[in-house]
Formats: sequence, structure tokens, C-alpha cells
Amino acid sequence: MSDPERERKGRILSGMRPTGKVHLGNYVGALRNWVQLQDDYDCFYFIADWHALTTDYADTRNIKQNSLEVMIDYLASGLDPERSTLFIQSHVPQHAELQLLFSMITPMGWLERVPTYKEQRENIRDKDLSTYGFLGYPLLQSADILMYQADFVPVGEDQVPHVELTREVARRFNQFYPRKVVADSRDPKRMFVFPEPKPQLTPAAKLPGTDGRKMSKSYGNTILLSEPEASLRAKLKTMVTDPARIRRSDPGNPDVCPVGDLHKIFSSSETMAKVYDGCRSAGIGCIECKGWAADSLWQVLGPIRERRAKYEADPKLAWDILEEGSAKARVAAESTMEEVRSAANLSFAYEPPKPELES
Ligand code: TRP
Ligand code: SF4
Repeated sequence: MSDPERERKGRILSGMRPTGKVHLGNYVGALRNWVQLQDDYDCFYFIADWHALTTDYADTRNIKQNSLEVMIDYLASGLDPERSTLFIQSHVPQHAELQLLFSMITPMGWLERVPTYKEQRENIRDKDLSTYGFLGYPLLQSADILMYQADFVPVGEDQVPHVELTREVARRFNQFYPRKVVADSRDPKRMFVFPEPKPQLTPAAKLPGTDGRKMSKSYGNTILLSEPEASLRAKLKTMVTDPARIRRSDPGNPDVCPVGDLHKIFSSSETMAKVYDGCRSAGIGCIECKGWAADSLWQVLGPIRERRAKYEADPKLAWDILEEGSAKARVAAESTMEEVRSAANLSFAYEPPKPELES
């Protein structure tokens, strides 16, 4: 995207770890919003495969396949490679170079204080997370964001501290290494290499999984974005409901029912009204209500499944688009790194000795 375009729109960056097929929770919590943002911003969306290695380094057999699955889900959801740059982190090695420079200037305490670090060290018992990579991963995220000089980072609540840390890292870098004024630069008056990005909180809709708990791969309660219609309907049939509605004749309450939560996200106000009436008066059965929920969900998932068909038939198509996007990202990244290296006195170009620094 050209620079005038960027000035006009502002730049967005966000990414996801490739943990396999995207589920409805990921869609409602992130992807759906990313698709919308394409209308108003210059967007960079990526697959954070190195991030996956910070916890799942011991077995990388599935990582590439998982990245491909996520890319197909990106495209199927409506992320548009004509408008947005879609790329994979590990194919833009500049991210590692920038993380390395950030690691030089970041006090250990900043990393040890990151809430996800403390939480996961305490809660994840089946993996050894006492690694250098795990401690340092928020800096990898800072590199992801600052590399593209993003203005806004759409994330969920849990990721906000990472964006805050990124702002501190940007500030510290800018202090140590103010920008060199380069003759042909696009904005000669700009003082600093990095703007401070702002988190853009994605409103968290309450999206329960089939067992009523938060939808999560580790609970095995997901509905996939790629779910076929029959299996979507089958999963909804098994979904838990308002526990007070034991018999068909018992009235229920959609506000305490996971199926009700799905309706709130996906159903029209007319359907919602039928659900509230019918449930509270015991005028409808849960089977019927779940059928309506499935209809509403399929309104969203059907078109997504249609868009994915050609990539499923020929996954290389999706991989090629990912490679094209990564090549574009490398160009943007290299341009930032030229500024970064120059600011830190590490540019590749010869510079004659400076007499004033010799003594
Ligand atoms: N850490 C994020 C997560 O686990 C993924 C991520 C990596 C990310 N780099 C990013 C998100 C940069 C936003 C911006 O979900
Ligand atoms: Fe839930 Fe619908 Fe049954 Fe009410 S009728 S308890 S909202 S599934």
C-alpha cells in the first residue's frame, strides 16, 4: 500500500498463533472484526508461527500444516489479500533482528511482570516454560507491531499488557536511538523511528462452547469455522441449555442458557424475540430453539465454507497467497529495519570515521 494511502487510513496490525483450525471463538473474538477493519485501515494480518514455538517448541511436526489451515481460514473469513497484507512471521526474518535489538534495551523486570508470563508459568505444568524464548516472547510481539509502525493493534483484553509493553519498548528505543534524518525519507521532520501503537480492544462477546464453558480448543468444545452444516447441527443438538428447563413444560431463561448466548451473537432481533417469548413461556422446546440457532449460525458459516472450497481443493493456492503477502511484508520490514539500523549506528553503508568520536 502506498504511503499517501497509509497517511489517510492509519495502519492496523494483528496476528494469531497457528494452533490448528480456527473456531467460532477466534472468529467472534478477532477475525470478524479484522475483516471489518479492512474497509477503513491499511491492515497487516499475520500468522505468528514463531510465537507458537515459545510454548510448543518440543514438537514442530504440525506447525506448518497448522499455519496453512489458519491461512485458509483467514481467506475464507474474508481477509482480502488485495487490500491487506497477509503474511507468516517466520518468513520475515527481520522480526528476529528487531527482537534482538529490543532484547538489548529491555530490563528483565519488564518481562517478568507481564501477566500472561506469570500466569502461564504457574498454570502450564505439562511443558517446561523456563526458557529464554518464553520470557522474551512479548518482545517478539513488540517487534511484530513496531516493524510495521502500526497505529492500532486490535486485540482481546488478555493481550492489552503486551501492547502497553510495546509502547514502553518503543519509547525506550526512541530515547536511546533517535532517528537519523535521511535525505530521501518520506517524512524528514519525524524525530523517532517508532510511533507508539494503541491497543484497540475487541469487544468480547460471550461465546460459549458446546459444554457451556468458554469455547476453547483445550476443552474440546469448539465449533469450527469450517464446520459442515450437518455436524454444526449435530453439535448444537448436544449443547447444554438452561439447567432449570428439565421438562419441555418448564419455562427457561435465554439469559442463563449457552444457546441463548449464541442467539444473541448470531440471530436477528425477530428470532431473538421468538426465543425469549417461547423459552420463558415454555411455548417452544429446546430442540426447536437449537434448530433456529443452527440456522442463524449457518447464515454466517455457509458463505465462509463456500469461500474456502477452492483452497481446500488446492491448498497450494492459499500458500502461494501467503508467500506473496510475506514478500510484501519483507519489503515493508526491511524499510523499517534500515531506519532502525541507521538510528542505532548499525547501517550496512560505509561511513567515514568521525573525528569528534575518536578521542
Ligand atoms: N500473542 C498473541 C496471542 O497469543 C498473538 C500475537 C503475536 C499478536 N504477535 C502479535 C497479536 C502482534 C497482535 C499483535 O494471541
Ligand atoms: Fe436455551 Fe432455547 Fe432451551 Fe431456552 S428454549 S433453555 S434459550 S435452548
